[in-house]
Amino acid sequence: MNSRVAKLIEALAANHKLPLEDYEYLIQHRSDAAAEELGKRAVKVRQEIYGNSVYVRGLIEISNICKNNCLYCGIRRSNYSCQRYRLSEEEILACCEEGYGLGFRTFVLQGGEDRYFSDETVCRIVSRIKERYPDCAVTLSLGEKSRESYEKMYDAGADRYLLRHETADRDHYGKLHPKEMSFENRMRCLYDLKEIGYQVGCGFMVGSPFQTSSDLAEDLKFIETFQPDMCGIGPFIPHQATPFAGEKPGTVELTCYLLSVIRLIHPSVLLTSTTALGTIDPRGREKGILAGANVVMPNLSPVSVRKKYELYDNKICTGDESAQCRSCLAGRMKSIGYEIVTDRGDRKKSIT
Ligand code: SAM
Ligand code: FES
Repeated sequence: MNSRVAKLIEALAANHKLPLEDYEYLIQHRSDAAAEELGKRAVKVRQEIYGNSVYVRGLIEISNICKNNCLYCGIRRSNYSCQRYRLSEEEILACCEEGYGLGFRTFVLQGGEDRYFSDETVCRIVSRIKERYPDCAVTLSLGEKSRESYEKMYDAGADRYLLRHETADRDHYGKLHPKEMSFENRMRCLYDLKEIGYQVGCGFMVGSPFQTSSDLAEDLKFIETFQPDMCGIGPFIPHQATPFAGEKPGTVELTCYLLSVIRLIHPSVLLTSTTALGTIDPRGREKGILAGANVVMPNLSPVSVRKKYELYDNKICTGDESAQCRSCLAGRMKSIGYEIVTDRGDRKKSIT
């Protein structure tokens, strides 16, 4: 590892921030030795705050119907080969019931931007879940909405909102999305969510088409300044029915490197070792935890719809029952010395 990289790692661990150009340098001049050093420090910091606990979130993919046309996404509206579905309210509640029995204390309702799920419908579902399971957190991940809609859902009891910023560079954002979507609106949503009082998650894909190390440096700077409660990063993986079908996927190596850097930037952040990471490498999720992540999101969706929520090719965990998915992940975590816990898994704010 060169001496400037070594100094930057030292400075990052001490101050939790770096100038933009230093983030870029850290990315461009990475090496196995640098990754190892970052990983060691990230694990230590995570250990001090969260011990060897890994938080689980039960992911319920409520609809793959989407009005948007993000160029990378397998459920974009122009993918006519996608078999569309939406879960009924009762099906969603049944997933929660099963999940509760399996020890989940957070439910993540994720889906495309499906107009069927109006504010009223989402609010009713959220309040029914919170009524039945007052000891659980509800996370929504339903895309861009007006401030008023976010407020209503918060008032109905939603605790958290996941909305990846996708890229913190305006020009890069324009290359990943159709004209009718805007970087400004994505950012507006994130700031609104935070002001309303949600625990907010942002994130991005690693290795998305046209991404440069300067874009990634901006992503890191955004995380440093925005201070999200949660962060989800995973490799970009092409989907065969999208304009990016022929693009290269992101790597485990760079994803894990960035997970370690993010842990050092924001020690208490809830950082997910994603399904996408597990898709490009059979031990990807274990590697993510060993790089500093502390959250996994087993699938709680009905098995009948799982293959249809295909954001990218060869997505894993589409054939297993929820109980299998959870115990598979518990076993994987155990194999590396970590333990899945039955806990809402809120961010431990007092530490940083
Ligand atoms: N509609 C909501 C939204 O926009 O936030 C939630 C669903 S969206 C499918 C969830 C995330 O999947 C996106 O934020 C994106 O980062 C990720 N994703 C989509 N296509 C992907 C791909 N080809 N490879 C990796 N991740 C992808
Ligand atoms: Fe809407 Fe992907 S384009 S969820």
